[in-house]
Amino acid sequence: MKQTLWIKLTGTVLMTTLATSGATGKSGTTAKTSWGKTPDGEEVDLYTLTNKNGVEVAISTYGGAVVSLKVPDRNGKLADAVLGYDSLDGYVNDKSYFGAIIGRYGNRIGHARFTLDGKTYTLAKNNGENSLHGGIKGFNKAVWTAKETPSPDGQALELTYLSKDGEEGFPGNLHVRVIYTLTDSNELKIGYSATTDKKTVVNLTNHSYFNLAGAGSGDILGHILMIEADKFTPVDSGLIPTGELRDVAGTPFDFRKPTAIGARINADDEQIKLGGGYDHNFVLRRNPGDPISLAARVMEPKTGRVLEVWTDQPGVQFYTGNFLDGSAKGKGGLAYTKRSAFCLETQHFPDSPNQPKFPSVVLSPGERYHTTTIYKFSTEK
Ligand code: BGC
Repeated sequence: MKQTLWIKLTGTVLMTTLATSGATGKSGTTAKTSWGKTPDGEEVDLYTLTNKNGVEVAISTYGGAVVSLKVPDRNGKLADAVLGYDSLDGYVNDKSYFGAIIGRYGNRIGHARFTLDGKTYTLAKNNGENSLHGGIKGFNKAVWTAKETPSPDGQALELTYLSKDGEEGFPGNLHVRVIYTLTDSNELKIGYSATTDKKTVVNLTNHSYFNLAGAGSGDILGHILMIEADKFTPVDSGLIPTGELRDVAGTPFDFRKPTAIGARINADDEQIKLGGGYDHNFVLRRNPGDPISLAARVMEPKTGRVLEVWTDQPGVQFYTGNFLDGSAKGKGGLAYTKRSAFCLETQHFPDSPNQPKFPSVVLSPGERYHTTTIYKFSTEK
């Protein structure tokens, strides 16, 4: 059964679709509000997806960003677990990639160049000598086309974007589709797909900054983290992988057993110093045959909130907000300071286009890039 209600709300037209399915018992709502215009005059909307438990995610068509994500603690109290801004302006001026879809290439490409079939492509250097997160105007600064889309799994929003041939230096017209689904099991599922008309490289992710005690509530050093990784990719001073896959055993990078994020974050360790904390790609252990595997689990002891990250990707960037300096005013005017959030960005390894031993990120015409990541929320006593 589908009902569409139009509600006039403080001058904005709000469309609410109430969908219920007798067969699955699935219920929830998706609401759309106008969120203003970019400096170029493009209209931006904010979609709010709510599930039957009252879990709520707001997604902006600007950057496809997860703007808020309200999840319960062990007593059922909701808090917003992601950093972000109250209004579109914040996202237009943002330099931290809060909540955004990252592309065409998540994380760094060394010397901002790569070679495909003998042709060298030069990208903008927006991080020292390197290219970071797709360049100067990556997918996080694009206005995506949104469509509510039926899904048996929950409330779903489809976002599409055409990244034109040559955009930020990358070859090929890349048609990108990202589907966010909020399920009644308190999962935010993200499906990424893309096709190209010229051989190119693709590595898409989401850059949500989590604080399971609530955005702006302090640092994340007491969160207990487990990462399903026996190895990580050490980096040089520009945070470009050296090419080595190093054992985590005996290092501050061993999160195979649940450990407080802060326990070793200031360790006298070359890699910790290079990252200013954790800012590294972990090589995920995958269960052969499973379409997707658990990558990481994080628990916040005061609230009992738990986040599990599931993915089909080979890596995850664990970043502890080392570059947050309190200068950006976040939601409710709060300053987000160093280590006030963590990111778990599922991905192919950084600099893969220049690292022949890393899993390939090349997409050719006729192929379809398709990956899935699930952020699943629950609680623990
Ligand atoms: C990178 C960090 C960077 C952050 C925000 C992470 O993916 O690894 O070095 O500061 O994104 O751009």
